[in-house]
Amino acid sequence: MSFLTVLYAILFYFAAAVLLAGLTRKVVQYARAPAPLKIPTTPAPTNKTGVAFRMAREVVFFESLFKGNKWIWIFGWIFHFGLFLVTLRHLRYFIDPVWLPIRLVQPFGIYGGLAMVAGLAGLWARRFLVDRVRYITGISDHLILVLLILIGLSGLMMTFVAHVDIISVKLFFRGLMTLDLSPLPADPLLLLHLLLVATLMIVFPFSKLLHAPGLFFSPTRNQVDNPREKRHLAAWAKELEQ
Ligand code: HEM
Repeated sequence: MSFLTVLYAILFYFAAAVLLAGLTRKVVQYARAPAPLKIPTTPAPTNKTGVAFRMAREVVFFESLFKGNKWIWIFGWIFHFGLFLVTLRHLRYFIDPVWLPIRLVQPFGIYGGLAMVAGLAGLWARRFLVDRVRYITGISDHLILVLLILIGLSGLMMTFVAHVDIISVKLFFRGLMTLDLSPLPADPLLLLHLLLVATLMIVFPFSKLLHAPGLFFSPTRNQVDNPREKRHLAAWAKELEQ
């Protein structure tokens, strides 16, 4: 087995461990954070089914972002929807046999890749062109956008410019999952794409990308608007009452 294969295998095991442990730690922290007040943004649903629908609209359409800012919404939504298609297309590297819906979605995944990069470009441009946004933009805001754009561009280069042996790529990743190492092709574009992806996995639990799990723990979105019917008490306040 080549040095490169072993190096990338170690890198991906490490990145997966950091991602899993880091995300678990954060989600536990979010779940334990006290929500002492009833603060759903009104008009808000008055029962749990309504909250589930509100959350679903938030996840699929970015509803509150739409109300808040149309430019971020359009670019953000294009990026995330593209990413969703790209993720579906990538599943073929990890499952065997490849399910029919994943086979059918393959061509759309390529459009997803283009959409993803276009959305990211819009979000990045906004950080230079809008004065108020430029003022509050930090280096990490730029870096995370650059990282995602480079992942997208290196992926698109493989699709449109220099093909890689995706059968070997699949064998390598299936091998990682079954602890049976297989050689990784030494293609510069592929190695770059994968290095950037591993970097993304490692920084994810420490970055603003945590908004993905964080959304589900946001009291303004996940609370039922029933303060009169049911008294809201934080856990610590309950203890004081007893
Ligand atoms: C371990 C994970 C990943 C592997 C093994 C992988 C591998 C690949 C390969 C082999 C291609 C070329 C496809 C072809 O020639 O048809 C590709 C394309 C692409 N990748 Fe990845 N990639 C991974 C993760 C990601 C992630 C996390 C993103 C986005 C954040 C991403 C974005 C893209 C894009 C936009 C394309 C071009 C469109 C397409 O062909 O799907 N990749 N990737």
